[in-house]
Amino acid sequence: MHWNVFWTEKDIIGDMALWAIGDFHLSLGIGKTMDKFGDLWKNHPEKIRKAFKKRVKPTDTVVITGDHSWGRNTAECMPDFEFIASLPGRKIMIRGNHDLFWDAKRTDRLNKGILGDRFFFLQNNFASYKDYALVGTKGYCFEGRDTLEHFIKIRDREIERLRVSFEMAKEAGYEKFIMFMHYPPTSIGENSSLFTKMAEEYGAEQVVYSHCHGIEHFYDSFQGNVNGIEYRLVSSDYLKFKPAKILD
Ligand SMILES: [Fe+2]
Ligand SMILES: [Fe+2]
Repeated sequence: MHWNVFWTEKDIIGDMALWAIGDFHLSLGIGKTMDKFGDLWKNHPEKIRKAFKKRVKPTDTVVITGDHSWGRNTAECMPDFEFIASLPGRKIMIRGNHDLFWDAKRTDRLNKGILGDRFFFLQNNFASYKDYALVGTKGYCFEGRDTLEHFIKIRDREIERLRVSFEMAKEAGYEKFIMFMHYPPTSIGENSSLFTKMAEEYGAEQVVYSHCHGIEHFYDSFQGNVNGIEYRLVSSDYLKFKPAKILD
């Protein structure tokens, strides 16, 4: 499934931008606030709404890099989806480790279902923005919480999904790529990973990720230019809830 972000010819020639931000951790349906994580998180949906209103135009595209909601299923997440849908811009969703509503084997079902007209769910597919392919997957890194065997199993599955995304875009004729992940591209202390190697193999211009929360984790992985690729952390607390511009 290939999703083109252009709506009309006017949008193509009009003023548009690509943004990214991740880890909203909303709970408008089930009332699990993020207040315990510090003042920054107090009333954070309002901060998100204000930042989007100020920066993002309706013709823009925003990639939201996972951990959307604390809801355990689509019904519990629905108020959060409605909140995200009410923000300006077209939204492309990446799967985070907390996104229990998203059955990884049924992404097509999400895209064809009631949420499919409001969001594009990016996994085993790709989206486009101008002449760029937007590719991505959840990713995985080792955080010392599972066995090495389990880590390798999940990482390899995610690498396969990422390759499918790149290959589909390539087959469709795309030569320019922006790569999105939920997890950081490397585990703490690594200089490279299968994810960074794949970004280099396909010539991704940027790798955009989130998942890392709190100042003690903001530098767990790459930021800035590494081997010609721009790595960018877009966790909402790192960005103070203001979407980061990825492309004009
Ligand atoms: Fe998160
Ligand atoms: Fe996460």
